[in-house]
Amino acid sequence: GPDISVTNTKAHLDQLQSIANANGGNRSTGRPGYKASVDWVKAKLDAAGYTTTVQSFSTSSGTSYNLVADLPGGDASSVVMFGAHLDSVSVGPGINDNGSGSAGILETALAYAASGQTPRNHVRFGFWGAEELGLLGSKYYVGQLTTAQRSAIRSYQNFDMIASPNVGYFVYDDNAVGNGVRDDFTAYYDSKGLPWEYIDVQGRSDRAAFRSSGMATGGIFSGAETIKTSAQASKWGGVAGKAFDACYHRACDTNTNLDLVALDRNVDTIGYMVWRYAAKDYGTTTPPT
Ligand code: PHE
Ligand code: CA
Ligand code: ZN
Ligand code: ZN
Ligand code: ZN
Repeated sequence: GPDISVTNTKAHLDQLQSIANANGGNRSTGRPGYKASVDWVKAKLDAAGYTTTVQSFSTSSGTSYNLVADLPGGDASSVVMFGAHLDSVSVGPGINDNGSGSAGILETALAYAASGQTPRNHVRFGFWGAEELGLLGSKYYVGQLTTAQRSAIRSYQNFDMIASPNVGYFVYDDNAVGNGVRDDFTAYYDSKGLPWEYIDVQGRSDRAAFRSSGMATGGIFSGAETIKTSAQASKWGGVAGKAFDACYHRACDTNTNLDLVALDRNVDTIGYMVWRYAAKDYGTTTPPT
């Protein structure tokens, strides 16, 4: 797969930290740091040739926004999607949660557009608002799709926390909907000699609305408030008896609250999946242009 730049990804995270610093220390729904985050990501994607759409919706904390970025080209009836929530909680800047997933899909989107690849499928990235208020942005997005738009989406992959400082490598155990997403993630980690575990993320991830609509879903996750066991510390390093991310939902979730080796591995994982799913043959009749 492609080598996605961890240096560039870290620079995006530093930018999100600066946005939080300039806006009262957070990037949360209804506060100016959230909209500033959307505007900044949008400008990067627009400059790279994406067609971007900002969807606004209301929440109990004020207006929130989804940013949807479509790469022109590919079979419009066969869409592969990748998403991450861009909002933070109100107490901090939300850099691992979920600047990391947002910066990871942003950098991969930029790298894919620059690569000169001709996608077979239509490639779309979603940056969700108000995840921290109950997955509101991703639910809004799926809810406003027409039946035809919904059935065009072949798969949705979610990235929420990918650089936890006391890292674990978890793959969503989304096996009930027939698809290869879960198995492609685990095969990629296997190919790198990286031990992984399944996690049942239940209602804690933005793929829920996609999954309820019958789409193939999956994702990866590096751990939040759960305590790392000694068996997990043996295989992944780090500290047993300590949370995967001790700064989860706290003010200390800053741009120093990151494992940059994990960030590098996981952005390369996103790159592998974006390249693979952009090219995946779903048996559609429209040839790539
Ligand atoms: N959705 C959680 C949050 O943003 C993080 C999480 C992701 C937890 C995946 C479990 C599994 O706070
Ligand atoms: Ca890399
Ligand atoms: Zn969170
Ligand atoms: Zn999150
Ligand atoms: Zn690498």
